Amino acid sequence: MDVEAAQGKPAQQVARAVATELAAAGIAHAAPDARWLIAARTGVDPHRYPLRLLPAERLPDLAEAVARRVAREPLQLIVGTTSFRGIELACRHGVFIPRPETEVVAGAAIEAALAAPLADAGRGRRRLVDVGTGTGAIACALAVEVPHADIVAADADAAAVDLARTNVARVRAGDAAVPGVADSTTVAVVQGDLLAAVDPAWRGHLDVLVANPPYLPDVDRETWEPEVRDHDPHAALIGGSDGHEVVEALLHLAISWLRPGGSVVVEIDERRSAEAQRAAHTAGLVEVTLLADLAGASRAVVARRPGSLA
Ligand SMILES: C[S@@+](CC[C@H](N)C(=O)[O-])C[C@H]1O[C@@H](n2cnc3c(N)ncnc32)[C@H](O)[C@@H]1O
Repeated sequence: MDVEAAQGKPAQQVARAVATELAAAGIAHAAPDARWLIAARTGVDPHRYPLRLLPAERLPDLAEAVARRVAREPLQLIVGTTSFRGIELACRHGVFIPRPETEVVAGAAIEAALAAPLADAGRGRRRLVDVGTGTGAIACALAVEVPHADIVAADADAAAVDLARTNVARVRAGDAAVPGVADSTTVAVVQGDLLAAVDPAWRGHLDVLVANPPYLPDVDRETWEPEVRDHDPHAALIGGSDGHEVVEALLHLAISWLRPGGSVVVEIDERRSAEAQRAAHTAGLVEVTLLADLAGASRAVVARRPGSLA
């Protein structure tokens, strides 16, 4: 971006020039990316204030942000945040950036949690676990949308655990564009493989187990856009050499960690939906269904432990 050329120009005109530069770099959503870079770096949203002049002293910083995006750094890492079910989540290098399709997966977990009666063994609470929490996206959505819940978010990666703790604290403090979390809701972020760090006393008592685990095969690496290849941690994406190991491990763990009638929701590779359904049946789960995302792709397998919730 040419800082001098942008001086004294209305926001809309600068946005068009930036979008042209981003499109030339091969960026698919150049116009919205230009909008959000300008809004984040100058405080002026060119859609809302098209004729406003951008503050001159902010232009060098904007030019630096545009150069990073031209080099195919993800928008969310440049801006530092993303939106997930209306929650503003902090994003950092080294931690997987939440994707919009996972909002649908979180929604299924939220619906299953809300359907679980509160009176289980006199607890009056719901026990929910998010495995492979990353930024804490799904756990934060559960915390905001499900009352009377004790939530555990687990991740094997220390950087993810640290960021998830930050995001849970921001959400609880009301600093994440949502009203906050009910005082009665607890959220613990733990580090460990799958459910290894979850209190063993919870085994057999979960209302909902949800995960967006790594589920892509190793061969997919060659097809990734630079944003994914160079910026998402590969351990967050690759689920073993055939891609399905973590999904299958989670479905097998679900049968012993869920309470009778409890639900498991696991995001999957749409190309492996038949295998995921088969793995759920093999694990002894029932009412196995596939959940479609907004593009119509099978995005999650949903199932229950046999038995009644009541
Ligand atoms: C695809 S990312 C999903 C992150 C987040 N749930 C979301 O939807 O944005 C997968 C996450 O699982 C974590 N992970 C990978 N293998 C794991 C394992 N064996 N146990 C726990 N977490 C794991 C990664 O560190 C990463 O944060």
